[in-house]
Amino acid sequence: MENREKEILIIKETKKLEGTVQISGAKNSALPNIAATILTDKPVILENIPELLDVRYMCTLLKEIGSSITQIDEKSWVFSLKEPSSLEAKYDIVSKMRASILVLGPMVARFGEAKVALPGGCPIGQRPIDMHIKALEKMGIKIEKEHGFIVAKGKPKGAHIVFDRVTVTGTENIIMAAVLAEGETVIENAALEPEVVDLTVLLKKMGADITWNWKGKSRTIKIRGVKKLNGAKHKIIPDRIEAGTFAILSALTDSSIIIKDYPENFLTYVNWIMRKMGIFIVKIGKNEVVVKKDKNLKPAFIETKEYPFFPTDLQAQFMTLLSVVDGLSIIKENIFENRFLHVPELNRLGANIKVQNNKVAIIDGVKKLTGAEVKATDLRASAAMVLAGVIAEGKTIIHDIYHLDRGYEKIDHKLKSIGVDVERKKVKQMLVKEV
Ligand code: EPZ
Repeated sequence: MENREKEILIIKETKKLEGTVQISGAKNSALPNIAATILTDKPVILENIPELLDVRYMCTLLKEIGSSITQIDEKSWVFSLKEPSSLEAKYDIVSKMRASILVLGPMVARFGEAKVALPGGCPIGQRPIDMHIKALEKMGIKIEKEHGFIVAKGKPKGAHIVFDRVTVTGTENIIMAAVLAEGETVIENAALEPEVVDLTVLLKKMGADITWNWKGKSRTIKIRGVKKLNGAKHKIIPDRIEAGTFAILSALTDSSIIIKDYPENFLTYVNWIMRKMGIFIVKIGKNEVVVKKDKNLKPAFIETKEYPFFPTDLQAQFMTLLSVVDGLSIIKENIFENRFLHVPELNRLGANIKVQNNKVAIIDGVKKLTGAEVKATDLRASAAMVLAGVIAEGKTIIHDIYHLDRGYEKIDHKLKSIGVDVERKKVKQMLVKEV
């Protein structure tokens, strides 16, 4: 038997938490913002960049294309791509991080060509990029698929794009393709997530001409192409998903941890759902909140939808909360076709959750979860396991925690700083050889 090392998280039940937790910059804002630095040969300074595996992957990708990336301070980086050294985003990075596809739009915009490995599927769904491709082709880009790569040629021209369904990175890719295009691009049924808006704030600082129009259901972005973009300095917005995760942790342990940089205005709908359950976000200072709760929480009915409604990226964490709320709760997952992988793991911890045709979860709240060995199946499901480990009786061991490091900056350090009994440990992974 050969052994390889892997890391696990060991979490023991922790009754009360206290102290302050600082919310980091948003992963899903940092990634498109870093990709946007491809659009100019001038230096771009990005601040509040979270230290995450996915950010390291994106920086590696940019370095391979020819970017020079230097750190100014713990959270600020300068990106500068004077001349490309390669126009290829290789499979080894793209296969690790689907958001690599975000280099496609800026590369064709600036260089008129790009070769990007087709991102594979991921645990939560097929994650096709057909809408990205169709929109780029409508902008006059010639796209071939060969040997697992997307080969794109041509400078984008302004076009009228209507997305069949809201796509976050699809919207971001087309915005970045359009900012240097000839003529005007209109994107209808655009994604309006705060992270998409944050990208347009950076692009406008760089000199892009972008306007939004959001009236009721109509969500339109208009981009008039400009000749060149300049450098800029921009601070990434706080991570609303990390913030929501810590708010749930505070409610689960009935603690009064102070959450710094809680982006209330990005979590309006989530805060409303929590209020209906008996969980209240109480402002105690500029962007500082504590979480208060009623003695007995009420069950909830949640449907994941595009922003500004309930975010799919908080679905798993909310399921942990509802698993110990007395009564029947329902979660309907509308965004991804396979985002209930955390259900069997929660049931191993003593939850009572049934899933109907992989779309609807029926959660019958139990009094207590009990510790067990579980595995993290995807980024947000791993956060759900951490939350469950803190309240489960005894000890919970979480395997495959690399998922966690992709999206939660220094998670064990933050948990320890508010009193969670958590330990990261390297263990031998027993690999059984063929007999
Ligand atoms: C972004 O993924 C986020 N990632 C995801 O966060 C998030 O869950 C998702 O948006 C939904 O909010 C980043 O921003 C880096 P979509 P994205 O395109 O852009 C289908 C996390 O945990 N679709 O909005 O890939 C797609 O399969 C991650 O941080 C097509 O069919 O999601 C999905 O069912 C997970 N064809 C739906 O649309 C396409 O061309 C929405 O996907 C594109 C998407």
